Amino acid sequence: MFENLKAQPADAILRLISEYQNDSRPQKIDLGVGVYRNEKGETPILTSVKRAEKMLLAEQESKTYLGSGGDPVFNDLIQGLIFGADNAQHERIVTLHTPGGSAALCVAAGLIMRARKDTTLWVPDPTWANHVPLLGGAGVSLKTYSYYDPHSKSVRFNELLETLSSVPAGDMVLLHGCCHNPTGMDLSRDQWQQVAALITDRKLVPFVDMAYQGFAEGLEEDAWPVRLLFRKVPEMIVAASCSKNFALYRDRIGSLSIVGTDRAARDILRSQAHNIVRTMYSMPPDHGAAVVRRILANKDLNAEWIAEVNAMRGRLKAMRSKLVDALKTTAPGHDFSHVTRANGLFSFLGVNEAQVDKLKSEYGVYMVGSSRINVAGITSKNVGYLAESVAAVL
Ligand code: LMR
Repeated sequence: MFENLKAQPADAILRLISEYQNDSRPQKIDLGVGVYRNEKGETPILTSVKRAEKMLLAEQESKTYLGSGGDPVFNDLIQGLIFGADNAQHERIVTLHTPGGSAALCVAAGLIMRARKDTTLWVPDPTWANHVPLLGGAGVSLKTYSYYDPHSKSVRFNELLETLSSVPAGDMVLLHGCCHNPTGMDLSRDQWQQVAALITDRKLVPFVDMAYQGFAEGLEEDAWPVRLLFRKVPEMIVAASCSKNFALYRDRIGSLSIVGTDRAARDILRSQAHNIVRTMYSMPPDHGAAVVRRILANKDLNAEWIAEVNAMRGRLKAMRSKLVDALKTTAPGHDFSHVTRANGLFSFLGVNEAQVDKLKSEYGVYMVGSSRINVAGITSKNVGYLAESVAAVL
């Protein structure tokens, strides 16, 4: 039965985890997979999460099934975090708790296939390496719009507008809510306004993936584009992740919000989404949602968590500046200032694939082949060595 199956190549991002672990060089630096790291190079459990877990242990009395939509309290609270307190429990939005942002994307893909099989989803080029395999693999027909110019190291905004201006009405557009993965380059508020106007005029359906809320400018600020679109469009999808901002990576907790034209449409969307979940993984795991729900519901925990998110964001920004400053010394004549214009965990370093390979093989510096770096892997201790290594391969 399985004789015709061929081995699959390892995932380009996840492969870096084991390659890095198997490297015995003490000076090695991991700028690969997108996880936050502190100044010690560790990805600790947040203090707010630890406290919420203690509360959970003391309070939880049953582990019976929750149903396909997951925890309704989590769903209301996360809806408020994404869409704003004014729009929490809005009658047009249904929110489901999902096993990570990836499952939210899978369920959304299932919904798109049921709603309109022949619709095209326009995805940015480049985009997260798993967007195309995941959404395309689920059957969604994909086309790309140009997003990043490697020469000017900025968003190709005019080309983006030009492409979206010719997209047929009813098609969908995938947008990164903030901290674009892999470039880190986000639209300005003025650009978001223009995109939102175009989406409205051309009757396109936005599909926002927001995996890094809080890592660009702040928890409220980063949700601004979603809230802008919500006010303007009749229908939209938002997939969100709690992996990074709650550091709950392996607990797999995310959410899918679907906006319908009215309450009746929302009820149908809810029943469809629940049915897709039932036939896909039946029900989401609870632990991550139970933790996040406690953090969002408890004033004290919530304040502590916001401070922790702010600290993570502050460190990311500081490491960007440190790297660019160090490169000014080790690689004069080369301009890396774009690294400080990017948001969140990622930035393209702007070196070629051969240089990426050399950084790995000769210097033990690990990054994705596109030269995407996770700036959380930079510390005050390793930044000097990193800047020297980069300069050596230029
Ligand atoms: C990344 O882009 O590195 C993260 O989103 C982790 C992943 O699953 O790829």
